Amino acid sequence: MSKVAEIATTFFGYLKRPDLYPELRRKIWKNLFNRSSALRGKEEAEIWCKKLAVSEKDFIEKILKIPFISFQEIFPQEYQAALQAQERTPVKMGGAGSLSVIYYINEYVSSKSSVETGVAYGWSSFAALASLVKRNGTLFSSDMPYIMQNQSEDFVGCVIPEKYKNNWDLYRFADKESLPKIIAKANSFDVIHYDSDKTYDGRIWAYTLLWDKLRKGGVFMSDDIGDNAAFKDYCESKGLEPHVIEFDGKYAGVVIKN
Ligand SMILES: C[S@@+](CC[C@H](N)C(=O)[O-])C[C@H]1O[C@@H](n2cnc3c(N)ncnc32)[C@H](O)[C@@H]1O
Repeated sequence: MSKVAEIATTFFGYLKRPDLYPELRRKIWKNLFNRSSALRGKEEAEIWCKKLAVSEKDFIEKILKIPFISFQEIFPQEYQAALQAQERTPVKMGGAGSLSVIYYINEYVSSKSSVETGVAYGWSSFAALASLVKRNGTLFSSDMPYIMQNQSEDFVGCVIPEKYKNNWDLYRFADKESLPKIIAKANSFDVIHYDSDKTYDGRIWAYTLLWDKLRKGGVFMSDDIGDNAAFKDYCESKGLEPHVIEFDGKYAGVVIKN
């Protein structure tokens, strides 16, 4: 698809969704005046991540002090069914991060209430819910549909096992609209996992809002922190001690709130 056709498809996709008009306005503003936000500080962020990075196994065993068995090994049948569900979808959406890290951070704090931003197929939701359902906890998710693909919304969360869905509360708006609604429902959370708007400014806005709502001892995680310097800068500005985990050639950041 040419660039012009892409812009037109995106624009008309938004026009069909009045609930996404605020995000359309923000996207136009960003494209006109703030294009550098996606990659701001990428080079320094990558160097910083590389220096701190550990494997998912080391993080789980040395920091969380939980013996490592991969998520796929603990839930083999559900995982196979999820792969098949993904194969059946006609749309291509964003891929998963470390399911084991997501599962074990929920286990570590015995989470009853977790927030995630960015669902797509629902791999991260599947991992968080696999832990939350043990305590009848709730996963609050925020996800804005991929506007470029008409059907994508029908498949958001398609890999999540049906038996987990009673514990899942999905908000289908941009984070700027979803997160205030989620926060109005529960004032404090045990785990926060950020995996949606990857721009520098989008991250800082959401990190600031969500960090405040994380309980003491709770766990904060953000994916793809090598994309720009937002996670590094946020941790430095607040004096936080982050753990950086390398997975599939990308970096996730985790902070345990003191
Ligand atoms: C990388 S995918 C999420 C992958 C998912 N966490 C997983 O592990 O399977 C990113 C998702 O965030 C959504 N997204 C992007 N920007 C967003 C925003 N501003 N608000 C809410 N969702 C957004 C995308 O539509 C997409 O579904």
